[in-house]
Amino acid sequence: MRRYHISGGKPLYGTVEVQGSKNSAVAVIMACIAVKGRVLLRRVPYISDVSDCLSAVRCHGGVAEWCGDGMLSVDCTDVRFVEVPRELTGKLRASAYLMGAQLSRFGICHIPRLGGCALGARPIDLHLYAFSELGARACAQDGHSICFPSGRGRGGHIGFPKITVGGTVNALLASVCADGETIISNCAREPHVCDLVRFLSRCGADISGIGTSELRVRGVRELHGCEFTLSGDMIEAGTYLIAGAATRGIVGVYGVESDQLSSLLGVLGEMGAEVTVAYSGAAVNGKGGLRACRVKTEEYPGFPTDLHPPLAVLMGIAEGESVIREGIFSSSRFRYLEGLRAMGLSASVSGEEVRICGGATLRPADVTATDLRGGAALTAAALCASGESVISGVEYIERGYSFPLQKLRALGADVTVSDV
Ligand code: EPU
Repeated sequence: MRRYHISGGKPLYGTVEVQGSKNSAVAVIMACIAVKGRVLLRRVPYISDVSDCLSAVRCHGGVAEWCGDGMLSVDCTDVRFVEVPRELTGKLRASAYLMGAQLSRFGICHIPRLGGCALGARPIDLHLYAFSELGARACAQDGHSICFPSGRGRGGHIGFPKITVGGTVNALLASVCADGETIISNCAREPHVCDLVRFLSRCGADISGIGTSELRVRGVRELHGCEFTLSGDMIEAGTYLIAGAATRGIVGVYGVESDQLSSLLGVLGEMGAEVTVAYSGAAVNGKGGLRACRVKTEEYPGFPTDLHPPLAVLMGIAEGESVIREGIFSSSRFRYLEGLRAMGLSASVSGEEVRICGGATLRPADVTATDLRGGAALTAAALCASGESVISGVEYIERGYSFPLQKLRALGADVTVSDV
């Protein structure tokens, strides 16, 4: 088991080059299964979620190779339908995208056992609804597969009753090669959904409405290979900005569209941090007085749920009582609080709301990450606390953050890793 040893209490200074988006990468790599040709991807983050997606592609007979700094070649010209082992699909949430990609390519898919962070039930009813609108049916004698009876989907109207990132991704994957036109309304507008739309379009898909809540997909015969560069990871960028402000330092991020950081930068400004916005990045100075704030997590362009745990650390340090209302996931999102409480954060949960008492002096502790963003919050708290903290469960952190130790060291943090 790997552990991070963090001697905190020093402000972070410097700039971070933002990785390619994790959530774009996992969607695009799984989408490659639907593509008859070689895809060259740039700016792919070195994270374990990506490695697991590549394993899933290879299970189908796809050829995936790193071929330079952040460059990945994925060739699914010759793939076959397989049931990806549960041990692999159970590691990540993006396994859900195997369904859309397999339906598109083979007209049949296996419903995998899904993994990902434990953030409550995380059902897939809306993914299955989207497939059924395209004509998919349960396969006879097998409760774990669904198929398009004619071998191809047929266009339809998918009206999501609730916005879902994963459901939107799967609706896109299953409809790009369907016969006829599909309308996907009330869809997710997250930057990674837009990245997938751009990628599929490069592969020959015909999709309009990018960035809006209604996508129109005109089915094409098949998808061909392309070259594609992933956009920057707004959650990674936001995590470093928050950690910088929480340590009372000055941290900049570059390689991410600042528009995507708008909701976070608004909150940081409201809390009293000095925010500078550039075209492809932003910086935050946390040296001034920080005050409490009320935030609700929402679908994009609202405040992202994935920045909820790191923001709680900043709120713990700011003066006054802050509130975060979790609008996306259930109260399981609050599991990160256990570790932060051990470090001196005082917070109480009521329903979907957490109240955080400000003015805390965080202390070092031995804590365990329970999920990816919770792990990022513990890291930010450890950077604030004077003395050595030990964080276990860092495998969660490394699912989504590439080279976290190198990036933190470049900001002046005292961080080492041990293997036990
Ligand atoms: N939901 C349903 N039914 C469905 C699908 C979703 O009820 O069929 C509910 C979920 O339970 C949740 C809400 O709808 O309450 C939103 O879920 P969504 O489908 O949007 O999330 P997701 O696709 O499971 C992705 C990201 C998450 C991120 C969320 C919200 C990927 C691989 N994962 O999850 O990322 O938190 O969107 O933005 O893109 C992370 O990076 O740490 C992470 C958890």
